Amino acid sequence: MKSVTVVAHPNIALAKYWGKRGGDGNVPAVPSLSVTLSGMSTTTTVTFDDGLAGDELVLNGAIVGDRPLARVTALLDVVRREANIGAHARVVSRNDFPTASGLASSASGFAALALAAVRAAHLDWSRPRVSDLARRSSASAARSLFGGFVELDGGEGAPGLALPVAGPDAIDLRVLVCVATEDAKLISSTEGMRVTQETSPYYAAWLTEGPLLCARIRDGVLAGDFRAVGECAERSALAMHACAMAAGVVYVSGTTLAALAEVRAMRALGIDAYATIDAGPHLKCLVTSQSMHDAKTRLARVPGVVRILETSPGPGARVLEEGTDR
Ligand code: PMV
Repeated sequence: MKSVTVVAHPNIALAKYWGKRGGDGNVPAVPSLSVTLSGMSTTTTVTFDDGLAGDELVLNGAIVGDRPLARVTALLDVVRREANIGAHARVVSRNDFPTASGLASSASGFAALALAAVRAAHLDWSRPRVSDLARRSSASAARSLFGGFVELDGGEGAPGLALPVAGPDAIDLRVLVCVATEDAKLISSTEGMRVTQETSPYYAAWLTEGPLLCARIRDGVLAGDFRAVGECAERSALAMHACAMAAGVVYVSGTTLAALAEVRAMRALGIDAYATIDAGPHLKCLVTSQSMHDAKTRLARVPGVVRILETSPGPGARVLEEGTDR
């Protein structure tokens, strides 16, 4: 039996996806484009062990069952089938940032799990194939297998493939994560998307707008144009949240909106700063290396911001350690 440890970073979507295409495979309804962020990480060890009576999940030091374990088992089952393995697995995972609160812990978590499980099972899979496996558990996780700027396709006819668009240095970009709470979010992204898709009067508009913004962000990244990327990224986040809110799905808090007002006040003063928000209350502020210090000082004063994590574009998931067979 082999033990493999992988580290993966969360990614934050500059062009959001929200909503799933019909059919199997957990393919998004729109394309998205993200940046993988070093400065936050998940470290996961997978060991297939004939002595186990069932799969085990230890997350941040606590034994976890129910739905999180069922999601892990679903991924492991695919690997077991492909590798012809009967053994259950022990999965030990730790995040160095708040878990399940809209900080993309599922992205880094399933990216790390997919790569560790595939390697522990001795499967010689390509990166895109591991990414495809991760996507089936959490679509955003497909992007964390790669570093830098990554696009995940979506919509009718798309295979749901994540591919790198540009390396971590393509734009001078830093991301300040304004932690608004250490608690888990109340509505999972899967549930929020389902409700939005079924009941938001603006969902059709989002399906048109999302891909247009994604294409503009890709052009901006390839041109190294921070402002073009920032403007479209802020638009994409606000369009996604407007669509969700119209279905009664609200992730922002007073702190998020106060931080957004501060980002806009900074821009009015000529400081390069744009906002993006995921399925949680933490605002992420996109800044240049030059504007980072001023932006961090100002955001730290926003009431409700507990702490600020400094992150920058980083590498994809990678193996840290491969234990020997026993
Ligand atoms: O794939 P999930 O369940 O992690 O959902 C991700 C949803 C957003 O973070 C809001 C958007 C995105 O493209 O990452």
